[in-house]
Amino acid sequence: MKFIHILVLFISVLINQVLSLNILGVFPYQGKSHFFVFVPYLQELANRGHNLTVISYFPQKTPIQNYHDISLAGKAEIYEDVFTIERSYWTIIQLGFFLMRAGTDNCVTLLEDDNVQNLWKSKAKFDVVLVEAFNSECALGLAHVLGAPVVGLTSHVLMPWHYEVYGVQYNPAYVSNLFLEGGTKPTLYQRIERTFFHNYFNYLYKFTTRRNNEKALAQYFDNVPPLEELARNVKFMLLYTNFVLSGPGLYPPNVREVGGYHVAKPKELPKDLKKFIDESEHGVIYISFGSMLRAASMPKDKLEAIIGAVSQLPQRIVWKWEEKTLPGNPKNIYISNWLPQNDILAHPNVVAFYSHCGMLGSTEAIHHGVPVIGMPIAGDQPSNAAAVEESGLGVHINFQDVTKELLLEKFKIVLNPEFRRKVKDLSRVWHDRPQSAMDSAIYWTEFAARTSNYSFRTPASSVPLYQYRSWDIVAVLGGILFAILYSLKLTISLLTKSSTPQIKRKHKTK
Ligand SMILES: *[C@@H]1O[C@H](CO)[C@@H](O)[C@H](O)[C@H]1NC(C)=O
Ligand SMILES: *[C@@H]1O[C@H](CO)[C@@H](O)[C@H](O)[C@H]1NC(C)=O
Repeated sequence: MKFIHILVLFISVLINQVLSLNILGVFPYQGKSHFFVFVPYLQELANRGHNLTVISYFPQKTPIQNYHDISLAGKAEIYEDVFTIERSYWTIIQLGFFLMRAGTDNCVTLLEDDNVQNLWKSKAKFDVVLVEAFNSECALGLAHVLGAPVVGLTSHVLMPWHYEVYGVQYNPAYVSNLFLEGGTKPTLYQRIERTFFHNYFNYLYKFTTRRNNEKALAQYFDNVPPLEELARNVKFMLLYTNFVLSGPGLYPPNVREVGGYHVAKPKELPKDLKKFIDESEHGVIYISFGSMLRAASMPKDKLEAIIGAVSQLPQRIVWKWEEKTLPGNPKNIYISNWLPQNDILAHPNVVAFYSHCGMLGSTEAIHHGVPVIGMPIAGDQPSNAAAVEESGLGVHINFQDVTKELLLEKFKIVLNPEFRRKVKDLSRVWHDRPQSAMDSAIYWTEFAARTSNYSFRTPASSVPLYQYRSWDIVAVLGGILFAILYSLKLTISLLTKSSTPQIKRKHKTK
């Protein structure tokens, strides 16, 4: 037995040595909630013997082996909470401007950095470049200069400008727009709404960020191909979703769903919190709106509605809340400004999660099988909340509609034992995979490096739009049909013209 262990260890060390890749990670966006999804994956790549160089705003606090930082920290303000609480078309339009400006600035900051410049000046060789695919394609230019294949990463569903370049069909009839409600069963109004915003974000991106990024790259390099072309050539896209939660999407083989890898093994809870949850007779409801609904920004009537509802429930409440006290000091509520969310959701006494439906929280909830009340505020939360409801993980509530009565109604639904049993079963389906999300993400990364001379992009991403939509076929067939009908009409009128006088003549001769 021992010998076999040593042999296995020896072989795995050997394999690691043989396959050890030199990997560059480029994370030019300074959003904290984005980067922290990727951390476990990056650490695991290093752990498996690959040599990582990571450009980001978040250098490791304690150095780990094989993981080298190129830190951009301090070069831009870190975004923790970029959204306002109110939601309207205007805030979505503004979000467009925000994304474009950040995407433009991030590129300039990235290319200006001396350590980043050293990479191309020293002609560093990488087997694969990991690029966050979010609001900029600047890093694709860098990867091109370094001559390495690219693996794209997201911490969310596809952005509107990803569909065309990866050849993923976009159809407002069943494809969610991440910023909007409606899920996969939109009304006619919602389809018009998402068509408008899909085009708004796409054209804004094409004509601002993409062009600005190309200009920034042109300052340093002579012959970088158009970024749209480089985006089409991304080898693999690792999408942070999974069909069990986000619904079955139609993705080409080089767009892989790897959602779930950030969820860590639960750790022991802090003593007092553990006691509070352990000793709950009817279970615990966990409330967190991330950093979104800060105490100071919560409208008073909504806060009163929430407190009013939860203090009527027999369950204990654990609430991520930044202030020392809650109005009224309800005694069944435990508040803290920092809470180990994943460890709480893993506790068997936690029976529901009242959440703003960030991708991370929703993923942790399905991982641990905890029913969700989803109250989306901004960003990709509306489409996540729709997915939560459609998958059966929970129910959806509009922030504007929140009242004590409505909340109690929603809690009644998710606290029903039958509902919880179904969510546990959904969680079982979530875990039923040929390989873990982490193994899958790492496999496709290594695969991209091993097969860099091959392309697996769908032909759908290469054909021009008029062919993709068959507009030319419609035009040709329409033209032929028109010609046939027109000549038919001509013939008929010729026949009738030539026959009418005869009839008249006949009449005359009578
Ligand atoms: C690993 O990456 C570091 C930092 O980029 C680099 O200095 C080193 O040469 C690399 N090691 C190997 C074996 O490629
Ligand atoms: C991939 O292509 C490059 C350039 O054409 C070539 O040098 C290399 O040997 C190829 N790799 C494999 C594994 O065939």
